[in-house]
Amino acid sequence: MDSPTKPPRKPVRPFFSSGPCAKRPGWSIEALNQACLGRSHRSKAGKAKLAEVLERSRNLLRLPPDWRLAIVPGSDTGAVELALWSLLGSRGVDMLAWESFGKSWMSDVVQQLRLTDVRRFEAPYGRLPDLSEIDFTRDVVFTWNGTTSGVRVPNGNWIPASHDGLVITDATSAAFVMPLPWDRLDVVTWSWQKALGGEAAHGILALSPRAIHRLEIHTPTWPMPKLFQLVAKGKINEGLFQGETINTPSLLAVEDALDSLRWAESVGGQAGLIRRTDANFTVVANWVAKTPWVEFLAEDPATRSTTSVCLKIADSWFATLAVDQQSKFVTDFADRLEKLGVAFDIAGHRDAPPGLRIWAGATVEKEDLEALLPWLDWIYAQQRIAAAVS
Ligand SMILES: Cc1ncc(COP(=O)(O)O)c(C=O)c1O
Repeated sequence: MDSPTKPPRKPVRPFFSSGPCAKRPGWSIEALNQACLGRSHRSKAGKAKLAEVLERSRNLLRLPPDWRLAIVPGSDTGAVELALWSLLGSRGVDMLAWESFGKSWMSDVVQQLRLTDVRRFEAPYGRLPDLSEIDFTRDVVFTWNGTTSGVRVPNGNWIPASHDGLVITDATSAAFVMPLPWDRLDVVTWSWQKALGGEAAHGILALSPRAIHRLEIHTPTWPMPKLFQLVAKGKINEGLFQGETINTPSLLAVEDALDSLRWAESVGGQAGLIRRTDANFTVVANWVAKTPWVEFLAEDPATRSTTSVCLKIADSWFATLAVDQQSKFVTDFADRLEKLGVAFDIAGHRDAPPGLRIWAGATVEKEDLEALLPWLDWIYAQQRIAAAVS
């Protein structure tokens, strides 16, 4: 490999974390000036802010009018668990997992809810399970975009539009920046801290009419904490879908979500966000194609995430290292980038094989990715030589 020269410029915004993700371009704390602080979230003003988040999200995502949206506690984890705890148990469930988050939903269902009629479909990092084996007469739970492996489902064509069970998807690193086939899904969750570059704390739970119906006819056999109660006396709590949250939300985080949603509208809505994300991904993909030392962790190009881009070090020398040495190499690599102010938080997830993970979602600027990549070559070459002589 030719020894690269020190790159001339650094990314203006070195924020490539896969969550919390980069704030939108131009964000400053001033964006929160209009926050409804020191007021009750049940005041007219507070409720209006919460309802506005739901309305703007619904419009951006072109949600079918009969779907309902609620702001729930606990970020995306809260939304997913609320769905699993409230909806599962009335029929068998097919659980899909190909990275850390899918695995954690699987273990929740088996070890916490202790459901017995569970079929597990698992695949190692880099691959998807066989989607043709899924039985949609059962409930189905999967992660749309596996943030820790950079493997996503290629589309929704494998899900029949008409299905007896409920299709539940954790779409936190996909919503807004990848198209979602609402007509094939029943429950979709996300948090503001991913594609919108918002703050964590709250999750969004989107429910189809069939999911609402299940909530009303199915009473789980396990106790339900107050935080998870969507139903009272067999009737769904309608107020939830108009911004009456179960417990107190952060109106600061709500203001920030509104700022992100307005920005998303200003760049062309969902289509604009997808365009920005795809253009970002292309920058990384073009670099991977010409760079011998990296490869996508996702083997099948159709499954490559356009947001959480996970890369492995494909140098044969790297493969000879023990896993803890590989991890150390990656940690040192990421630390050097951070110290230089070139990139923050691009070491792969702790549960994934040692490698890099670069967020390429819409709040990242293409020019910043273009500026980042030569630094990766430069640092890699230096560190590779240092590791070889040590
Ligand atoms: C696929 C997936 N699910 C769930 C989560 C957890 O999200 P949160 O921390 O917002 O609850 C993450 C976070 O990275 C994720 O990537």
